[in-house]
Amino acid sequence: MERSITWDDGAIRTLDQRALPDEHRTLRLTTIDELIEAIATLAIRGAPAIGVAGALGVALAARLHTVDGRLDETAVLADAKRIATARPTAVNLTWAVERALFRLPQGADAVLDEALAMLDGDERTHRAASRRAADLLRQQCGKGPLRILTHCNTGRLATTAWGTALGTIRELAASGEVQEVIVGETRPLLQGARLTAWELVEDGIPHRLCVDSASAWAIASGLVDCVVVGADRITTRGDVANKIGTYALAVAAQRAGIPFVVVAPESTVDERLLDGSGIMIEERASDEVTHHGGRRMAPEATPVFNPAFDVTPSDLVTAVVTESRILVPGGDLADRIAACTRVVP
Ligand code: MRU
Repeated sequence: MERSITWDDGAIRTLDQRALPDEHRTLRLTTIDELIEAIATLAIRGAPAIGVAGALGVALAARLHTVDGRLDETAVLADAKRIATARPTAVNLTWAVERALFRLPQGADAVLDEALAMLDGDERTHRAASRRAADLLRQQCGKGPLRILTHCNTGRLATTAWGTALGTIRELAASGEVQEVIVGETRPLLQGARLTAWELVEDGIPHRLCVDSASAWAIASGLVDCVVVGADRITTRGDVANKIGTYALAVAAQRAGIPFVVVAPESTVDERLLDGSGIMIEERASDEVTHHGGRRMAPEATPVFNPAFDVTPSDLVTAVVTESRILVPGGDLADRIAACTRVVP
C-alpha cells in the first residue's frame, strides 16, 4: 500500500491532505518550520501520521544541526519542543518525538533509524489492530455484511498506511463483510467527505456520505449495526478524545444499543492520564466555521466555538482495540456485548 509519508533523502515527503480529493499534491519538507506548518494546517493529519511525521522531524532537526560531525543537542531539543506542540491533543505526537529523542545521544543517524522504524512498523501495527477489531465486530454484530458508521478520516492518510477504524472496515470489506459505510462529512474541515470518501472510492467499498447532524438519526433509524472510530488520545480508564462529533455518536449508539468501538495503536493510550478531564482540546481558528469555500457564512460580529475534538467518557465505549489488546472500560467483554441489544426504532 502506498505510504502517505516517506523519508526522501534528507526531507519528509508527504501527500498534502489539504488538496484532496481534487488534487494529488505532494510536499517535500526540508525545514522544521515547513513541517510545523504542514501539521498545524492539516496537510499532515491524523494522530498516528502526525506522530511519524514528528519523529521524522526530530531526525530532520538532528541532521540540520549536525555540522562538521558535531551535533548541537540544544538546538535539536528546541526544535523537538516546537514540533511536539504543533498540535496539542493527539498524544502520538509527543510520544513519537520523545521516542526519537531517546536516540539523540547516539547521533543523527540513530535518530533517523528510530524514526524509520516507526514508519516501517506503522502498517503492521494498524493491520494487527484492524484484524482484532474485525473479529470483535463479528462477535458483537453477528455475521455480516455489516452497516458501519464512521467519522473523520482514520485511513491510510491518517496513519501513513492502512488505517485504524478505516483499516478495520478494509479488513471486513476484503472478505465481503461490509454492506455499507456511512461517513459523516466531519465539519468544519470535512475529513470524512474529502478524505474518507476518497479512500473508500479508491478501495471500491460501498458507502454513503451524510452531514454530521444526520449521523445520530441514521443510527436511531436502524441503518447502522456499529459505530467504529479512531482516537487522538485514550486515557487508562478508556475515555477517548477524537474528532469533534464523536461524543454525539457514542450517545446515539448507546441509546440504540449498538456497539461503539474505538480502534487505535497503543501509542494513542496516554499512560499518564486516568480520565479525560486532563486532555487538552485544541480550539481552532474561527474562520473554519464562519467561512465556507472562501465565503463568509456568518455575520462578522458573531463569535465562534470551534473545538477540534471532544472526549467520549469510557462508559459509552464498548471497547478500545489496539494491536495488542482489547480494553473494555469498566467491565468485561461479555457484559459489554450483552449491553449492545439493538433498540428497535
Ligand atoms: O484534526 P484531525 O483531522 O487530525 O483529527 C483526526 C482524528 O480525529 C482521527 O479520528 C484520529 O486522529 C485517529 S486517526 C487514525
